[in-house]
Amino acid sequence: MTDEHNLVGRAREALEDAHVPYSEYRVGAALETADGSVYVGCNIENANYSNSLHAEEVAIAEAVKEGHRAFERVAVSSGARDGVTPCGMCRQTLAEFADPGLEVVCDEGGNETSTYTLGELLPNAISTETLSDAEARRAGDRDGDDDA
Ligand code: THU
Ligand code: ZN
Repeated sequence: MTDEHNLVGRAREALEDAHVPYSEYRVGAALETADGSVYVGCNIENANYSNSLHAEEVAIAEAVKEGHRAFERVAVSSGARDGVTPCGMCRQTLAEFADPGLEVVCDEGGNETSTYTLGELLPNAISTETLSDAEARRAGDRDGDDDA
């Protein structure tokens, strides 16, 4: 398993490639898979601001396109070393593949980190089970409908 500080180091390296002409706020992410490999991403901004890609999204895309679906840990770092955490959207994107126990290691600068679980950062995430439970409830409602 990759050491926590190594994973932060990979996130720090990744943010060097960020394309941030608008915010000048570099973010890097390093995602460790269940088999111990690491995929990294940086933020990639766009003149049409809402097209911007977040570092975590890029790292997840890199891992998923290589067939990975199980993740252990993600480290996130910004150029400001300010303990930045994944935004709400990225938390939900992580929750698609990771369980609530996923460790999220945030770079506070030097050797300092803050570690959270994904469940702490995003309690009660919408999931595929949310959708299948709703579908089952609709099917139950149809069965019980005596007008049918
Ligand atoms: N950013 C990320 O890359 N990840 C996050 O989850 C937080 C925000 C980026 C988006 C934008 O390029 C810059 O940080 C400022 O919001
Ligand atoms: Zn984000």
